Amino acid sequence: MSSIQDLFGGRRRLLAIIFFIYLLLTASYYLINSPTFLSAEDTKPNTVVLANPEQDDVTPVSNGPMGFDHIYVINLPHRDDRRIRMKAIADYLGVTFTFVDGVYTNDTEVEMYTEKYGANSTAPQVACWRSHMNVYDVMIKNDDQSALILEDDIDAEANIERRVNEMRPHLPKDWDAWFLGHCHGKEWRGKVLGHPNLHVAVQPQCTHAYAVSRKGARKLLNVLAEIDRAIDKTIRNKYREGQLKIFSVQPPITGQLRMRGNPSDVNPGALALKGSGQALLEDSVYMRLLKEGLYKPDDA
Ligand SMILES: *[C@@H]1O[C@H](CO)[C@@H](O)[C@H](O)[C@H]1NC(C)=O
Ligand SMILES: *[C@@H]1O[C@H](CO)[C@@H](O)[C@H](O)[C@H]1NC(C)=O
Repeated sequence: MSSIQDLFGGRRRLLAIIFFIYLLLTASYYLINSPTFLSAEDTKPNTVVLANPEQDDVTPVSNGPMGFDHIYVINLPHRDDRRIRMKAIADYLGVTFTFVDGVYTNDTEVEMYTEKYGANSTAPQVACWRSHMNVYDVMIKNDDQSALILEDDIDAEANIERRVNEMRPHLPKDWDAWFLGHCHGKEWRGKVLGHPNLHVAVQPQCTHAYAVSRKGARKLLNVLAEIDRAIDKTIRNKYREGQLKIFSVQPPITGQLRMRGNPSDVNPGALALKGSGQALLEDSVYMRLLKEGLYKPDDA
């Protein structure tokens, strides 16, 4: 002990050195665990900008449902079971959904397209693509500034409207698409934009709940005019090529309901494998409907 004290020049100096090392360790612990340090490792750092510099130039808010001009729901006419469920969700949220007929695989255009370009996509995927393209057409016909597009198997956070309204002012005004739901779980890596849940998209995939701006609808009609794979993979690829401006909500505020007895029309095998169960939402509208006896599933 005395030789160590000699080495560091006395007891007081030794204590000072130990205290200094303690301070150094504590500081590095907090530095390593702080979010800013973590994001520095990432290619896209999470810069939190508290005020939107283009505050007077933000996305217009409509008097329509949730501040969009329309909320469109793509629904195949024979799936009235889903239409009924979506109506129950709309009523619970106090908004209006506008149903747009989905396109069937036996549609002549879909059949021709699948034959010509469908090497990497199935007929249901081509029909799904055509259905979304029809909604962009409807948006333009209705002169929508922005619209929310839903597939008919979604669930949502009970307070989705408040959350959308909190994030909307931070959305850059030149946005094309805004994914309120997505899959593949990479969106948290995207830069944060003024609201902790609003991110620059990383891998925007799954088209069950996304908003589109008027400019976005025109662009999507253009860049998706010919696709060689599922629509969401094409959107993701065009985004990576820099052709679309896309933002995501993370964690997602919508999810897909996956029921054993009520498979997807686009991808029945995959969903059947996943079995039943709800998307992981904090406070699901669908669960509220069940609990409050406002909806009885016929596939339960
Ligand atoms: C296409 O399929 C749907 C659903 O199975 C059916 O209701 C419709 O009659 C079919 N249309 C044609 C032209 O075969
Ligand atoms: C299918 O995908 C492959 C690989 O990405 C691509 O090379 C090919 O051109 C695609 N086929 C069609 C018909 O688009």
